[in-house]
Amino acid sequence: MTIRFDNRVAIVTGAGNGLGRAHALLLASCGAKVVVNDPGGAVDGKGGGHAAADKVVAEIKAAGGEAVPNYDSVADPASAANIVKTAVDSFGTVDIVVNNAGVLRDKTFHNMTVEDFDFVVKVHFLGTAYVTHAAWPIMRAKAYGRVVVTSSNSGIYGNFGQANYAGAKLAVVGFMNALRLEGQKYNIFVNALAPVAGTRMTESLMTAEMLAKLDPAFVSPMVAWLCSEQCQRTGEIWSAGAGYFARIEYREAPGVRITGRSPTPEDVADNIEKIADLSTSKVYRTSTEEVAAVVVGP
Ligand code: NAI
Repeated sequence: MTIRFDNRVAIVTGAGNGLGRAHALLLASCGAKVVVNDPGGAVDGKGGGHAAADKVVAEIKAAGGEAVPNYDSVADPASAANIVKTAVDSFGTVDIVVNNAGVLRDKTFHNMTVEDFDFVVKVHFLGTAYVTHAAWPIMRAKAYGRVVVTSSNSGIYGNFGQANYAGAKLAVVGFMNALRLEGQKYNIFVNALAPVAGTRMTESLMTAEMLAKLDPAFVSPMVAWLCSEQCQRTGEIWSAGAGYFARIEYREAPGVRITGRSPTPEDVADNIEKIADLSTSKVYRTSTEEVAAVVVGP
């Protein structure tokens, strides 16, 4: 099987650095026309400029690919819509959206300002929703689309000092879960990436030995697969880094059912180990399925 993106138009947000740059380079090298979105700026989202996006566009063109820059922020509905407009104006449509843009404002929750919380949620979660919302009608109308949201092991498993980031990174998974159901009949597939890579965002947290293994380009093949016509999977979470690729899912225990009377807090206390026991756990694919299990049993 050969993965190609000839005649496909891809938007990669935050493509001026790190993972986004690697995704954009790979998609372009496989034939995609790419909108390289990046407003520039530091890891905390402060500042900005055209250099980051321009440099990646130049790299793509130098390698014989097609790309245009876009400098809008994902974190505002109008500018996010302009990213999609750039794709349509430059290349006629949009087939692929890789929501990758990200910032960090790490602090313990105790010391975190509400502004730093809001800002991180805006870029990661609302930015993902805004860009996808602008692309969705185009994909729905032509019954084709591939969307990637970028989650994180920080949200999936937890990380000290990242309440804003972790919350936003799991919010995109909830967003994906709903879009999976709405997009499926229109051949719009939505998946979540949980990457690990050495970038300016993570380099201060990693040893030189770890960084040497964590080239962002080792994550991008998963993104390319998820954005391909061949990929028929949707609504799943994928870990990728250092050449490792694995699916992540959450599971539910068979639990305990108290019948014939109102359950009490003591019932929960008496049964807590069994309630928590995941040894014969199950995966539910929709909330309707899980609610049915809650009401009538699995
Ligand atoms: P990075 O800092 O190298 O790249 C992030 C890019 O997003 C930057 O170029 C930045 O200018 C851009 N950006 C920031 N705010 C933006 C906005 N409002 N609109 C558009 N673009 C914006 O970081 P990295 O590591 O490449 O991160 C990429 C994504 O992967 C992020 O969503 C990050 O949270 C996620 N991630 C990265 C991990 C890693 O190990 N590097 C781990 C888990 C998740």
